[in-house]
Amino acid sequence: MSEWWKKSVVYQVYPLSFNDSNNDGVGDLKGIEEKLPYLSKLGIDVVWLNPIFESPLVDNGYDISDYEKILPKYGTMDDFLSLLKEAHKLNIKIILDLVVNHTSNEHRWFKESCKGKENPYSDYYIWKDPREDGSEPNNWGSTFGGSAWEYVPSRGQYYLHCFAKEQPDLNWDNPKVRQSIYKMMTKWFELGIDGFRMDVISLISKNPEYPNAPKEVPYTKSYYVGASNGPKVHEYLHEMNEKVLSEYDVMTVGETPNTTSKQALLYTNPNRKELDMVFHFDHMHLDYGKYGKFSDIKFKMSDLRNVLSKWQKDLAEGWNALYWSNHDQPRAVTRFGNDEKYRDKSAKMLATLLHFMKGTPYIYEGEEIGMKNVPFDSLNDYRDIETKYFIEDLRNNSEPEEYIRKCVYLKSRDNARTPMPWNGNEKEGYGFSNGKPWIKYSPDNKNINVEDALKNPNSIFYYYQKLIKLRKSMAIITEGDFKLLNKDDSDVFSYVREMEEKKLVVICSFASKKVNFELPKELVKHISNSRLIISNYDDSNLELPQKLPLCLRPFESLAYYIEE
Ligand code: NOJ
Repeated sequence: MSEWWKKSVVYQVYPLSFNDSNNDGVGDLKGIEEKLPYLSKLGIDVVWLNPIFESPLVDNGYDISDYEKILPKYGTMDDFLSLLKEAHKLNIKIILDLVVNHTSNEHRWFKESCKGKENPYSDYYIWKDPREDGSEPNNWGSTFGGSAWEYVPSRGQYYLHCFAKEQPDLNWDNPKVRQSIYKMMTKWFELGIDGFRMDVISLISKNPEYPNAPKEVPYTKSYYVGASNGPKVHEYLHEMNEKVLSEYDVMTVGETPNTTSKQALLYTNPNRKELDMVFHFDHMHLDYGKYGKFSDIKFKMSDLRNVLSKWQKDLAEGWNALYWSNHDQPRAVTRFGNDEKYRDKSAKMLATLLHFMKGTPYIYEGEEIGMKNVPFDSLNDYRDIETKYFIEDLRNNSEPEEYIRKCVYLKSRDNARTPMPWNGNEKEGYGFSNGKPWIKYSPDNKNINVEDALKNPNSIFYYYQKLIKLRKSMAIITEGDFKLLNKDDSDVFSYVREMEEKKLVVICSFASKKVNFELPKELVKHISNSRLIISNYDDSNLELPQKLPLCLRPFESLAYYIEE
């Protein structure tokens, strides 16, 4: 296979919030198709669509009730095929979200499974008898609150759900489940899709002993003890590869919570024939607090550097999926940059750092115009199931409202889910919809929107466009080896990519003041052969100045190419 995904940049579209073509307040497939020229202008190669399948939308589509039908709110199968065809004409590939750790409780398989132990779908899910006192089989909690087990009187048993109770976990140990999933995947590939992002794929194999979690483990993630990187996960993914993936020239990216870089290598080492790359969470955990994700803690640059460079090193034989944000995370510029005075500079700096590391970069919709977290007026404005659970939980713990508001503002998934602002006109629904949007618009849309970005040649949009173009013209960006520089610098994250005699030196300041940067001695001697290929200040020196150390301005980023 051609490994085209190594040279690609992926753009993530959250269909609910991208573009509404029929003014019902919800984005749709026709709306996405209308915006393909915009994506083509940005220069991306692949679009990843969050789930577009039939669903009761308890978890915005991650609860699928029919894998082979399009959610009517999004359109029809013909709309999807038209989107795929038009995207292909523009050389844009489409990958879909494969959510097969669980289904919706409205899925036909689950409804049948509930009927009783004799039903052909009886073992499609994970059913366990109650303990002697009638309680849950073990002490696992679920991601969105409450026990991970739900009792069904018709079976006199509990079923497992690592997420909401409306998202029962499939039983991958049942070969019929695996066959049904492979068949469904094959149907989508035969329609011409270009790959899958695989939801929580590290959870599909469970430890058959279903051990209790130690008390210290946070309740909502306690199922990790027996549900992440389970005994057969690699066997099943290898089987999936053999039976389905190997038949097509497609890409796969697994979402792998609770996975170390060593385990990730098992998923992504090409010799093992499992997945092409995985999303890890180590850099997403740097600002966790006593309630886990919802905290008001700020990450430390040195921790970020340690984590990202470790993954670069440990996955040298595999492949990294590079991301700052997605539909489950706050906005990158708010979290890792400075979304006020230095929004423009820090958004560009973050883009530089990410796009020049080794791996496939992912852009989350709106990141390319520097969208930031959303200051909703009231906690009632939030729509997300995870956020709602957190608010309730903290209120039960008598945390002050102000603290809850702050954590929600900093971490809610809804920060990433407000509609794309195509223009700055509130009366036109910011170009997203003429109907009432399913979630409020961000009040920042007047100043941060696509129309303005496209008019300004120095915008974040055009900076991303330039980064993507560079990837197409310089093999070192895809292939070069990664080496961290100045690992003790308190403000600057710098590294070099090396290929044959060529080098790409990337220097990114995280400071909001001027700082000096010492270029390592081994690079100083190459100064005369260097060329600045991109920087986020217009007047950066085009050649490495003879006068060292470099003085970097707030959030300045520089990338020098050195050819011997
Ligand atoms: C990860 C998805 O990205 C998230 O949005 C979803 O809630 C869970 N998996 C459950 O499917």
